[in-house]
Order: sequence, then C-alpha cells, then structure tokens
Amino acid sequence: MQELKWWQHAVVYQIYPRSFQDSNGDGVGDLEGIRSRLDYLVELGVDAVWISPIYPSPMADFGYDVADYCGIDKLFGTMEDFDRLLAEVHGRGLKLILDFVPNHTSDEHPWFVESRSSRTNLKRDWYIWRDEPNNWLSHFGGSSWEFDEKTGQYYLHSFLKQQPDLNWRNPEVKAAMFDALRFWLDKGVDGFRVDVMWLMIKDDEFRDNPANPGYRPGEKSSHRLLPVYDADQPENHALVAEMRGVIDAYKDRVMIGETYLPVQQLMGYYGKDGTGANLPFNFQLLQCAWSAESVARAIGEYNSALPPGAWPNWVLGNHDQPRIASRVGVRQARVAALLLMTLPGTLTMYYGEELGMRNVPIAPEQVQDPAEKNEPGIGQGRDPERTPMPWDGSPGGGFTTGEPWLPLGDEHAQVNVAAFERDKGQMLHFYRRMIALRREHAVLVSGTLSEVTAEGAVLRYLRGNETERMQVVLNMSHYAVRPEVARGVVLLGTHAERVGERVEGTIELKAAEGILIRVE
Ligand code: NOJ
Repeated sequence: MQELKWWQHAVVYQIYPRSFQDSNGDGVGDLEGIRSRLDYLVELGVDAVWISPIYPSPMADFGYDVADYCGIDKLFGTMEDFDRLLAEVHGRGLKLILDFVPNHTSDEHPWFVESRSSRTNLKRDWYIWRDEPNNWLSHFGGSSWEFDEKTGQYYLHSFLKQQPDLNWRNPEVKAAMFDALRFWLDKGVDGFRVDVMWLMIKDDEFRDNPANPGYRPGEKSSHRLLPVYDADQPENHALVAEMRGVIDAYKDRVMIGETYLPVQQLMGYYGKDGTGANLPFNFQLLQCAWSAESVARAIGEYNSALPPGAWPNWVLGNHDQPRIASRVGVRQARVAALLLMTLPGTLTMYYGEELGMRNVPIAPEQVQDPAEKNEPGIGQGRDPERTPMPWDGSPGGGFTTGEPWLPLGDEHAQVNVAAFERDKGQMLHFYRRMIALRREHAVLVSGTLSEVTAEGAVLRYLRGNETERMQVVLNMSHYAVRPEVARGVVLLGTHAERVGERVEGTIELKAAEGILIRVE
C-alpha cells in the first residue's frame, strides 16, 4: 500500500485560542498558554493542532475579522511567541495548522480603510462596491450590503458589516492574499483551514437570490433565500485550485476547506483530478439526526460519493456548532466518539470533546457572540461551545487566574482534566485509548468502509484491509438491544468491562453501548 501522508492518518485537534489556556491572567487564552499544554496533547495522542485565527483583529467576530494577515494579535502574544510555539509543536512531532480567512477582512484592515476612502482609490476594487444593493442576506442577519455615506456606495459583507468581503476577481487581491499564505508557509506552518471556502467568489452579475420555499419562521433570517448567487459559484473552483497550488509549492502541507454544502457539491471541492482542497470538511455528522438510520444514511452517502482518490474526513464538533455531548447527551457522546474514531480518513476533534464537555449556558448579559447579539434567542449563539477548557475544578478552572471571558459553567467542578486523570473510567482515557488503537491498526485509518447498516437502534459497519477486519456495533438508543455481531474479540468498548470478551451471534448491548470487534 502507498505510504500515507501525515495529514491522512492524522487526528487534528482544534483549539479556539481564546479558550484553551490563559498565561497572563487577562481571562483570554493565548499562545504561551497553548505552548504550556502541548504535553497534554501529546499524551492525548493527536497529531496536529489547528488554531482558530490569532492575527491582529478588532475582534468583532473574535478574530475572523483580520486586520493584518501577517501578524499576531497582542491579546494572543507576539510573533516570538508564535515562533516558539511552532518550534515546540514541531519538536514534539506535532503539526500546526492555521486558520486562513480569505472571504473578508476586518473593516479596520488598511486595505479596506484605503478602499473606502474614495471611489478612485487604487484599492477601491479590492472590495465589492455597488451603487444599489441586491437582496443578498448576511449570515449574521440583515442585508449583506452596507451603505457608505462618504462615497455614496454600498459594500458587500457576507457576515458582519465589520467584515467587508474581498473581491477575489481582482488579481491584486489574489496576489496579496497568496503572499500572506507564503509568509506562514515560509515559517514552516503545516497547512491551513480555509474559512468559508465555498463563499469566496460571487455572481458577477449580482443576481438576486430566489426565495427559499422551505424557510420556517424562527430559523436564522439568511435562510429566507436560497444561496444560489452568493455561494458555491462555478468560478470558485479555479480559485481553490490556485490556492492549493500556492500551498503545494511547499512540501508536505495540507489545505482543509470549510465547506457547509450538500454532499454532491461538497465533493466538488476536492477539485478536478484532486486539485482542490485536500480535505473539504465533512460536516455530515454535525447535521444529521442522531439515530442509527440517519447516521447510516449520512455515512453511506458520503462514502459512496467520494470521487476516486479523494481522502475522507470526519468531524463531530467545532467552534460554530453545539457540542456533541449537548446535542446527543453525555452517554451517547461516548458512542459518538467511538463512531468518529472508527471512521476512515482524517479526523478533526474540538477541544474539550475528549472530556465530554457540554455547552455552557450563557445568560443574556454574558453574551459575546455577534451572531447571537444580531439575532437573539433563536439558537444562533456560539458562546456556549466556546467556553474555557476546564483543566481543574478551581474557580478559574486552571484556565485563568483572572476573570474568564466566558463562564466555565457549573459542571467544570466535576468535568475537568485533573479529575478525569484520576479516574480511568472517564472519557479522557477512552479517547486516549481510541487514538492509540487507531495508530496501531492501520485498518481503522485506511481500510475500506462497507456494510453500513441500521437495524432499529443499532448502527453497524465493517472496516477491512488485507490483514484484518473490524466490525463496529453501536447502540444509539437508551435501552438495551440484542444485535447480531460478527465472531471475534472486543478490542474496545464504551463500557470497559467488555474489552477482551469473545463475541459471536446475538449479544446484548447495554443502553448507549458501542463495541469494536476484531473479526476472526
Ligand atoms: C466561519 C467561522 O468558522 C465562523 O466562526 C466565522 O464567524 C465565519 N466563518 C466568518 O468568518
């Protein structure tokens, strides 16, 4: 078998830098904090770290509004801190992936300051200016267009008005942004997660989007329209391929794309003959209902839609989505973890998932997220999944000596790294074992995935290669079930007592129990 690239067998760990570890007591996480926790990541067994944006930013969208693509925000530290972090990440055999935000800058980026200064400014066309708005809607509520008094035109912002969209049809924008990529690649970063990759190019005629007949009141307002003309435009693929070319000019790097799209469109982001993203994020498991039937369907659809040569990837959570343990419950979160860890390809996990960390309730006066502030009360807020990592049970959770920027919540007194270290039955150890097992058994990474079936509450699938076969059997309900299983030995289970047991025929699985069988 061909040798895999590092990112193909990687478990990627996403860090939301504001919330991982604070080193200076200001209540916000930083690069030094991350550096001080690298041994924890090594012990967990992950291969790579993806850090959400750390660039200078007014923080209107907490770093996804970049004011300088080649710097470090003071809140997170200095460029020296970054260089030290990168060196130590590499020193431990880990990889470092940065977030790249191409669709928009901050309105305080010098490019936009120039662009809005006059209609004739040389950077005017670096952004998208129009005399009249069309009907496009911002993902964070309201129109995508903001009127600029001074120059009497509207500029496009797919997110906040503090996040003006760049005009990627302008070759100068492309050149400047590709230089920013090279800046970090030259330093030795191992790749990028590209923010809203499917949105970068817009319809050049700015046609109105059609109404969405499926819109239901209470959904976020941008869903009123179908994103026909402001998302996933055909020309976008050439741009993605060019971006990939910039990254591929360096050895051993990876390009991951954020792609919230239906499966067929998602597959388009691998690009013609694999010239697109190495990994267009697969969010199937974030979006499907938690039942054996719908998960089986989601896995099956994705698996069979993969183009030849395309490498799969799986995700259970990120900084924009409710935490898995809140979505499916704490007991099912273990089942979800076993599911994730036994699916093929590259896996991305979100900090705290290894603790079964749940969303922390955020009172209205504690809200930080602009998405929640703009459209309150309809579940758009992302603060609950962005709360500080609970390292211990102290008031600051070992995260900060100061006042944390978001509350740690009540659960952190019990659910924290220090407490879990002492108790082998906890999720943290389960994750460590699963990641270790994935390293030992190549079949889990690169073996085929087949016979994905749902029978009542039971989800089952097979993984196989030339040397071994594994069957995964998951009880996705809160009652006991009696599925048929293959003959073999349980290598790993959500319930530790099962490990080592020989199984065959019909067995009993407890509520929310899952097992991985090495088939004989
Ligand atoms: C997607 C990011 O994941 C999200 O956090 C951000 O608000 C938007 N893109 C805008 O950059």
